[in-house]
Amino acid sequence: MTRSVNKAIFPLAGHGTRFLPMTKASPKEMLPLVDKPVVQYVVEEAVASGIQEIIMITGRGKRAIEDHFDISYELEDVLEKKGKYELLEEIRKISYLAEIVYTRQKESLGLGHAVLCGRQFIGDEPFAVALGDEIIDGPEAALAQLVGVYLRLNGPVIGVQRVPPEEVSHYGIAAGKEIGEGLIEIETLVEKPTPEEAPSNLAVIGRYILTPDIFSILEQQKPGVGGEIQLTDALRTLAGQRPVYAYEIRGARYDTGDKLGFLKATVQFGLKNPELGESFRKFLRSLFPGDPETGGR
Ligand code: G1P
Repeated sequence: MTRSVNKAIFPLAGHGTRFLPMTKASPKEMLPLVDKPVVQYVVEEAVASGIQEIIMITGRGKRAIEDHFDISYELEDVLEKKGKYELLEEIRKISYLAEIVYTRQKESLGLGHAVLCGRQFIGDEPFAVALGDEIIDGPEAALAQLVGVYLRLNGPVIGVQRVPPEEVSHYGIAAGKEIGEGLIEIETLVEKPTPEEAPSNLAVIGRYILTPDIFSILEQQKPGVGGEIQLTDALRTLAGQRPVYAYEIRGARYDTGDKLGFLKATVQFGLKNPELGESFRKFLRSLFPGDPETGGR
């Protein structure tokens, strides 16, 4: 029987080295996109996809994430006394978005190991995995797109998007047989291949629907690229045992753990913001006077 997907693991223990020195004392997942931390967008995506319980795998220096999703009586009291009811409502909502539990990954042993740290909270049901610094802005929540495929095919599904050949070495790369529009039955998966080794340009983009049989594979998984226990390697083994699918997620993806990715996301979300969008657009145009491409004056 196909079971619905109610839980998600968020691996959040990474050091954010691509964004130093900003991430020396603050988690990369707490960087703001306009007025919300990046990880809140990912939690909202999960909730919009039917997820009710989130298992956050954190580590040292990540306490700000817990505080953000906790109740802040002091702040609520201040807002109430000042009569800022709209803001109060918004702040309150954050603490009730989902049931969140936290556990720590004590050593940086890789994404596969981080997912394994969530095992005791999952039990015998399918679950989602979402990387907390990847934002996908699409017509339908990214995890919801994968849940749809999971419910149809009753097997693990990995979210992918095509990337230029020169970027394949930054990602896990999937390849296989196309069995529907944007849907592939995976034959192989390689973590961070060189462009020569890459079996395709379908990059794994930090969204997965997995089944609990991945845990026993992860337990046995030897370190791979970078000396880390790679989720991609375990998924390749799983694909040898049962059908595993890749689905091309619709939506614009921003890797906010990367400086340029973060800047792009900030501009995009700034432009879309109902309060700020119009003035922000004017400001951006004023930076390029007379440029026909940007429509500047
Ligand atoms: C991880 C995964 C990789 C995936 C990527 C997406 O790599 O191991 O397969 O393509 O996330 O961002 P990381 O970026 O953590 O090195």
